[in-house]
Amino acid sequence: METKVLKIESSVEINISYPCKVIRTGGLVAFPTETVYGLGASVFNEKAVDRIFEVKGRAKDNPLIVHVNSVDMLYKIGKVDEKYRTIIEDITPGPITFVVKKRMQLPDNVTAGLETVGIRIPAHPVAEKLCLCAGPIAAPSANLSGKPSPTDANAVIEDLYGRVECIIDAGETPFGIESTIIDLTGDRPVILRPGPVTIEKLEEIFGEIVVPDFVRDARAVTNPKAPGMKYRHYAPEKPVYIFGLSIREKIKKFVEKENGVILCPVDHKDFYPRDRVIVLGTLENPYTIAQNLFRILREFDKTKFNVAYVEKLEEKGILFSVMNRLKKAGMEVQL
Ligand code: TXA
Ligand code: MG
Repeated sequence: METKVLKIESSVEINISYPCKVIRTGGLVAFPTETVYGLGASVFNEKAVDRIFEVKGRAKDNPLIVHVNSVDMLYKIGKVDEKYRTIIEDITPGPITFVVKKRMQLPDNVTAGLETVGIRIPAHPVAEKLCLCAGPIAAPSANLSGKPSPTDANAVIEDLYGRVECIIDAGETPFGIESTIIDLTGDRPVILRPGPVTIEKLEEIFGEIVVPDFVRDARAVTNPKAPGMKYRHYAPEKPVYIFGLSIREKIKKFVEKENGVILCPVDHKDFYPRDRVIVLGTLENPYTIAQNLFRILREFDKTKFNVAYVEKLEEKGILFSVMNRLKKAGMEVQL
């Protein structure tokens, strides 16, 4: 299939009439959001939604997120408890997905047959426009299943070129990791996936929230609440290990012996041999680490190094979400 790559340089003049037509006529479009790139189809077109699963190699029991342009549309698709409405209106648009009971009839493949649906109002100007003209849009991240989510158009092209009708290239996505997912179907909000909206922030806005074990400790996956939790994620082809600072000296020896590379914040790079470090971002602005993470995991696969050793980061704020992704990409070194 021929894929049209559409470059959008300015956030002021956005002409998305072509991708909009593609989605309306049952095609697939990869588009930027403020988190990662998504692979979108019209939520009402069952065949197009089926193709998303085929193209990604995604398991059919892993539901998609529905992207909309307004809270009104969100309330049309999902049943939202009165008590959450002001909060939702305050924090949208933004990098957060709400799991709520389904109100609107949607094709079964969108929600993997569940009675609930994940809905999100993205804040990226291109995504906003696309949702306005062709929404609601069902979209997972625009990567092949198992690979790190794409944070720029090159990564999308690498995974999906020749398999979808259109890829919009609007540069790097600002947050670089997927949206926070919060389940609002029970008595108390439950966080299903940590993301750019941090746990601390959620507690501030919702009061008490439930943080299940599979979120507290990303490896402890038993009977996952979010179906996507049980699949291997975010992983490069080559091995990734996470190490604590207390074993830094030992790791330095491994790195030389095994032709490895250290991934760490710029603040720590001088502890390691210069030619064996990839800088993730800076602890002074930890959002830079989230922004670079997936791109660096993809780049690492293309280097001459055999293995990556990633410094364990303090699990607070956005770095809690970063560590969640890292634990899914690799294993902690036990010495
Ligand atoms: O930032 C994002 O959320 C990106 C951009 C493109 O919006 N999308 C994204 O989609 O990360 P995806 O499909 O890669 O991850 C969606 C996650 C999956 O883990 C899925 O299981 C979960 O959301 N999910 C979707 N609907 C759900 C539901 N009704 N109940 C529980 N989990 C749900
Ligand atoms: Mg994904």
